[in-house]
Amino acid sequence: MAGNRTFTMIKPDAFEAGNSGAILKMIEEAGFKIVAMKATRLTQELAGKFYAVHSERPFYADLCKYMSSGPIVAAILEKDNAVEDFRTLIGATNPANAAEGTIRKIFAKSIEANAVHGSDSDENAAIEGSFFFNQYERVI
Ligand code: PPS
Repeated sequence: MAGNRTFTMIKPDAFEAGNSGAILKMIEEAGFKIVAMKATRLTQELAGKFYAVHSERPFYADLCKYMSSGPIVAAILEKDNAVEDFRTLIGATNPANAAEGTIRKIFAKSIEANAVHGSDSDENAAIEGSFFFNQYERVI
């Protein structure tokens, strides 16, 4: 059975552009409940840990540098079938391939500055949520 939580970040490009509110509005209107949220900033070292699974990929260094380049919003979201439905809402990694009406199609600037992160599995959603939030920082 699919889990009911996912994890997201509003990335530095979208935060800097002042799009956090509009993106959160789309997320809530799509039926996701925010169960934890904070504005924060990753160091390059923390970004390296968060994205360690991609450490062998050619864009890893650029991704870590970019994700530590400015403030972000981190949030845990709740909804039935959360991981899959959220990835549908945000659209393809490369905004050039993202469907019309998706968050990345509307707000992303490039494959790197692609506005939002969404967990790719229930297991990673739990790991990523715990990376940013302890038990006292979540609604439940
Ligand atoms: S995914 O979501 O894991 O299926 O996407 P994937 O294509 O595997 O990419 C993993 C994360 O790396 C980012 N990415 C890039 N960053 C910089 N440059 C390039 N070329 C690039 N390609 C992919 C992508 O946005 C994913 O970040 P997150 O935060 O998981 O969305």
